[in-house]
Amino acid sequence: MTTNRDELIQAALDAQQRAYCPYSNFPVGAAIRTASGKIFQGCNVENASFGLTNCAERVAAGAAVAAGEREFTAVAVVSRGGVSPCGACRQFLAEFNPDLPIVMVDSLHESDVHETTLDKLLPGRFEGPT
Ligand code: THU
Repeated sequence: MTTNRDELIQAALDAQQRAYCPYSNFPVGAAIRTASGKIFQGCNVENASFGLTNCAERVAAGAAVAAGEREFTAVAVVSRGGVSPCGACRQFLAEFNPDLPIVMVDSLHESDVHETTLDKLLPGRFEGPT
């Protein structure tokens, strides 16, 4: 049986195939589940001006928000080695759910799955000007 988590991972693996990463050659795929049960995909999109690169997680989050979905219930991120979301992506995701469950998957060994939550990865986040 395909579980909810497996479905999210498959969506992230699928998105990873579409990564635009000619500079790093490090494709990343992300998939965000929202409260309505929908899944939104993202991949990293690089640029010749390197600093303009968008990470997979932020692309997925933007797609969800643009579709009117702001309640994130889980995110899966896949890459070689199953890396953890960068600091910018942590802050970006925390805007919508500071306790978001995060699933990290090594795309070279798909059974290598690690789970954590955003509150563990980003304690003391910036919550806005006082
Ligand atoms: N990258 C992501 O897409 N997500 C992360 O959380 C870490 C880094 C991308 C950005 C860049 O295209 C490539 O990985 C190498 O840093």
